[in-house]
Amino acid sequence: MFHIRDIPIDPPLVLAPMEGVTDLTFRRLIRSIGGCGLTVTEFIPGKSLAQAHRTALQMAAFDPDERPVSVQVYGRDPDVLADAARYVEQELGADIVDLNMGCPSKKVCKNSGGSALMKEPALARRIVSAMRAATSLPFTVKMRAGWDREHRNAPEIAAMCEGEGA
Ligand SMILES: Cc1cc2nc3c(=O)[nH]c(=O)nc-3n(C[C@H](O)[C@H](O)[C@H](O)COP(=O)(O)O)c2cc1C
Repeated sequence: MFHIRDIPIDPPLVLAPMEGVTDLTFRRLIRSIGGCGLTVTEFIPGKSLAQAHRTALQMAAFDPDERPVSVQVYGRDPDVLADAARYVEQELGADIVDLNMGCPSKKVCKNSGGSALMKEPALARRIVSAMRAATSLPFTVKMRAGWDREHRNAPEIAAMCEGEGA
């Protein structure tokens, strides 16, 4: 077992967020098999979630007994992502909010969200800080080793996130 702040993750295995895969039905299946201590939604555009768009709400749906559950958001606007974090806590009642800083997906990176944020540490800090201030939930950031082989800055970004309270 390990903890994400006060939340025990037991067994200590997390279902990775996967776009187009980890929807409610898939996560139900995984839960029914057992062995997984935390499930995570697929990445959800922070803006759509903050504005309660129907598709975003579908992506964020979880069962009342699917706990602990983490909702992953992405984007590049600190205020919008802060609204999304607030929404995850106050409207969805999830256990954890996660920021996607790890996705190389074209859909995410074309708007410079996801792992593209690792190329902009100052903006990444503003996002993490704004999200941290917006919610009292445990807040995690999923990241890659770096944007590419030449820029493996995950340790620096991780230290920054920790310093900001993620
Ligand atoms: C189909 C697919 C979709 C993914 N979607 C997401 C996503 O929505 N958010 C995210 O943070 N990572 C996403 N990832 C990355 C995975 O969460 C994971 O970090 C990655 O696959 C590395 O783990 P592996 O080596 O076990 O595949 C995705 C990966 C795959 C294969």
